Amino acid sequence: MSQWENKLKQRLLGKTGIKISEIGLGCASFWGKKIFSENAAIAIVHKALEKGVTFFDTGHSYSGGNAEIRLGKALSHLSDKSNLCLSTKAGTRLNKRGQLYKDFSVDWVIESCHRSLKILSIDTLGVFHLHGPNPEDFNDELLSTITNLKQQGKVRALAINSFNLDIIDMAMETGVFDCIMIDYNLMMKGRISLIDKIHKKDIAVLAAAPLAGAFYSNRLFRIRGFKDLWYLARALKNSPNKFIQGRKYKFINKHPTLTGSQIALAYVLDNPKISCAVFGTTDLQHLSDNLNASGISLPIELLDKINNI
Ligand SMILES: NC(=O)c1ccc[n+]([C@@H]2O[C@H](COP(=O)([O-])OP(=O)(O)OC[C@H]3O[C@@H](n4cnc5c(N)ncnc54)[C@H](OP(=O)(O)O)[C@@H]3O)[C@@H](O)[C@H]2O)c1
Repeated sequence: MSQWENKLKQRLLGKTGIKISEIGLGCASFWGKKIFSENAAIAIVHKALEKGVTFFDTGHSYSGGNAEIRLGKALSHLSDKSNLCLSTKAGTRLNKRGQLYKDFSVDWVIESCHRSLKILSIDTLGVFHLHGPNPEDFNDELLSTITNLKQQGKVRALAINSFNLDIIDMAMETGVFDCIMIDYNLMMKGRISLIDKIHKKDIAVLAAAPLAGAFYSNRLFRIRGFKDLWYLARALKNSPNKFIQGRKYKFINKHPTLTGSQIALAYVLDNPKISCAVFGTTDLQHLSDNLNASGISLPIELLDKINNI
């Protein structure tokens, strides 16, 4: 075991008893796009494995349908994946023109589960999410279908991935889900009461986008190629208001020993109710930087400064 594996701390995925690295790799967005070099994407997964990451998150429809397939390829050299927790999502699909649509029909959810198992070459998915369900999707037929998938051993933990408070409330009431993936980072302190609420229900919380898309850094304005333009366009389209908000957090990049991204991740992990912070990257240096955030305790003055914004 390398010193890295010792260093990357593990946490429990709620009551499931599954132990996962407290920092996980999101295999989505630009990482999974065909335009991004497959070799570079695979090298990131291999380095993450080497450094002790055991939680990898993807989805059937991520990156135009290529991300899950790419993750399968990146892990194909492993004869034993039993120490990994592979997390994927069903319920969103792509039509022939590559446009996303929702399909939470029982047939598709079962098919999607089986496809993911095949693509990832495993017998059991670590976490199987309903990907952004609508209220009408919480019907008995679907809930009993996914419960059956778990009972059949195809899935270890059932989850929903939603950032919608009403949907999250509905999911908690079903009593079916083991974990919920929400967006949580230092720019989303409003989520803390939600995390408390989910935790009280004995449901694990996975933090997506824990780096807040790096709005606190100058990363989005450092345009060195198509990848950077893509990230900037995504940020301008999805969260233009965060450019101004992000400026209030720029001080975290000036810490003498920690990088801004390490502080952002350590802030999320400071909450013991978070099972895993799942970030995305296309850069090996960023990967190493971020994984070094495991086990860091932020000084109280720094936490206070962030909390007071
Ligand atoms: N965002 C969502 O809406 C969403 C929804 C559901 C699930 N998720 C899950 O959450 C994962 C992460 O989400 P995300 O990628 O949107 O957000 P994120 O992890 O908060 O931010 C990723 C951005 O941060 C940059 N970055 C990473 N490390 C950095 C470093 N050390 N220094 C500077 N910049 C750095 C990345 O650029 P580089 O590539 O250059 O490193 C990328 O632009 C996804 O992969 C997925 O598994 C996200």
